[in-house]
Amino acid sequence: MRAVEVGLILVGIAAVAIGTVDEISDATRAIAEGLTGLVAIVYFVEYCIRLWVAPEHPHSHEVAPGRVRLRWALSAEGLIDLLAVGPAVTMVTGGIAPGSDFAAVFVLLWVLKLATHAPGVELIARVVRNERTALTAVMVLFVVTLLAAATLAHFAEGPTQPDQFGSIPSALWWAIVTLTTTGYGDVVPKTPLGRMLGGALMICGIGVLALLAGILATGFSEEVKRREFVRVWELVAKVPFFADVGAVAISDIVARLRSRNYPANAVIVRRGGPGDAMYFIVSGEVEVRIGATPIMLRDGAFFGEMALLDRRPRSADIVSVSPCTLLVLNVADFYQIAGQQPTLVAAIEAEAQRRHAANIAAREGAKT
Ligand code: CMP
Repeated sequence: MRAVEVGLILVGIAAVAIGTVDEISDATRAIAEGLTGLVAIVYFVEYCIRLWVAPEHPHSHEVAPGRVRLRWALSAEGLIDLLAVGPAVTMVTGGIAPGSDFAAVFVLLWVLKLATHAPGVELIARVVRNERTALTAVMVLFVVTLLAAATLAHFAEGPTQPDQFGSIPSALWWAIVTLTTTGYGDVVPKTPLGRMLGGALMICGIGVLALLAGILATGFSEEVKRREFVRVWELVAKVPFFADVGAVAISDIVARLRSRNYPANAVIVRRGGPGDAMYFIVSGEVEVRIGATPIMLRDGAFFGEMALLDRRPRSADIVSVSPCTLLVLNVADFYQIAGQQPTLVAAIEAEAQRRHAANIAAREGAKT
């Protein structure tokens, strides 16, 4: 559904953008205008539907429908959608021709709508919000350096280049182009002092940008980790094996687990392969291909523990029978948890021994 929405927005933007090209044929222009009008009408209908169904939101039942609709209409999402509907209303009523230059202005509004629907935008907004203190500090540093550089450049270069450095505001252009390491080269310092200042400013620029990139990269990685933690936490709750583990221990285990989805008929573990991880089944069904009759494992069961405990190659092939969601615990984390959670690992060991005995019994039975 989201892909259709994003696809429609992209078609709308492309159609309006193509409509602004003078060289296109009349037929292409007619198609572009038709598409622009069509997308505009779809937005109009979509806005009306969204407004109408706003009271269906799970937390809105106790409030009067009219109030919920008004609240949605005044929310950031509602206002952006309303702005995107502007072209629809004006085009449908004939106020603006779909291919006109004025209609092209609405591309900006549709780009804004795209931003609210594009996956990941919410993540970026969250990272910026989380890191606002550090980002503000860097911005302050940026502005202070900029103003100091512009002032010094004005004193150093002003007398020789009054047009470019005659005032602090005019010197600001050079300072910003240099500090951001853009370097158009339209304004350059000529005095030795001005050049030294330029060199120092370039180095400061690299430092400020590196600082900014570092803050954002750390913020992204922490936010992604936090989200993965919440997702895995919810999945762990579905595995009864972890039900009796205390809150502190479970948070340690959750941080070490990774969720992975497999389609049906995927080979998850290959006999003879290295024991690099063990798996807990959150949902779905897998088949252990070890003897004549395959053994089925379902939600809540685990597998892949024997190779880790015995430090031997995998004893069987394991293939998904239906689409599966698994929690994966890699070997290094398994041994760390073994040190901290002896009871948990003892339960895994007990099941491994039972399976081992069952396999020996099955082999003996097959021989006789
Ligand atoms: P491992 O040997 O690492 O890889 C194959 C896995 O199949 C094994 O660990 C067990 O988790 C699982 N397995 C082996 N024998 C049985 C059995 N009899 N019943 C259930 N699972 C088994």
